[in-house]
Amino acid sequence: MRYFYVHWKHRIPEEPSRLWYEVADDNFQNRTIEFYTDGSVGFAIRGAALDGSEDIEIGGTRNSVEGFPDLTEINSDNQFEASEVNAVDFERRWSEALASRFRMTTGFTIAIDGPAGAGKGTLARRLADHYRLNLLDTGLTYRAVAHSLLRLGLPLDNVSAAETAARQVDLAKLDRAVLSAHAVGEAASKVAVIPSVRRILVDKQRDFAKTPPGAVLDGRDIGTVVCPDADVKLYVTASAEVRAKRRLDEIESIGGTANFDEILADIVRRDERDMGRMDSPLKPAADAHLLDTSEMAIEAAFLAARAIIDDVLAKRNEA
Ligand code: DC
Repeated sequence: MRYFYVHWKHRIPEEPSRLWYEVADDNFQNRTIEFYTDGSVGFAIRGAALDGSEDIEIGGTRNSVEGFPDLTEINSDNQFEASEVNAVDFERRWSEALASRFRMTTGFTIAIDGPAGAGKGTLARRLADHYRLNLLDTGLTYRAVAHSLLRLGLPLDNVSAAETAARQVDLAKLDRAVLSAHAVGEAASKVAVIPSVRRILVDKQRDFAKTPPGAVLDGRDIGTVVCPDADVKLYVTASAEVRAKRRLDEIESIGGTANFDEILADIVRRDERDMGRMDSPLKPAADAHLLDTSEMAIEAAFLAARAIIDDVLAKRNEA
């Protein structure tokens, strides 16, 4: 058995974990490629081809040197440091890798709050993918309640019907395609003022957050109410005009038409309702990091968020 240590120097900004998942191949003993995260990211390779095949895919580069990766070729990529190591050294690095990955993913929670259209949903998805955490868009839970009432033709302030609908919300069955309609969002903002509905949904959201390996949750009250002990809190915002313009672009990009002033008025009204309600109003937690995306592309926001999170992870791994 030969052993290799490959350290990824973390220079690909674009969703690298996906790339590396493709690397693993059951032809190789022990499914030999693993991730670990210690603030930066790296991986290790161990193994020999079981079936005598001589190929292994490394980051899209095909290597075939006696069934083992071609280290010269990997190193020439500049993103890696690869070397052949002895068994003892490999075992040490391997256990360090597993330990740091374990620390990284034990109950790690990222809370993202902000007004409608600030880009927190996209950011949450990117971060959940990158850190391989579960993802919950809590807005969908309020939307699901609103959708039930609308479907039954019941008024949105019917407290007992809303409570029943909230109890029936199944986080595994939230249908974004159905719930993303504009009217459902408006209605969600109205049922979200009912304290008993919030309590029922918040309980479900907290259970979700506790499920290993941890989660990214986005909404309005995650850092303040749902997960006040979150490891990282982000408050993502943008001016109402920028958010309205993004919404307009989105509608037009799929061939629709809309009026900028009407969208803007909608957004301002929704902000007022979400920020002005008595129970769990939208506001940044005292210890939240603010990300204003008015002048920032989503990629820049993602990188800024990662810098904040990696810092927290590095401190946690030192502890
Ligand atoms: O993020 P969204 O547009 O899907 O949210 C719809 C409404 O749900 C929002 O206007 C207010 C409410 N909401 C809430 O009160 N608390 C949350 N954590 C998430 C959403």
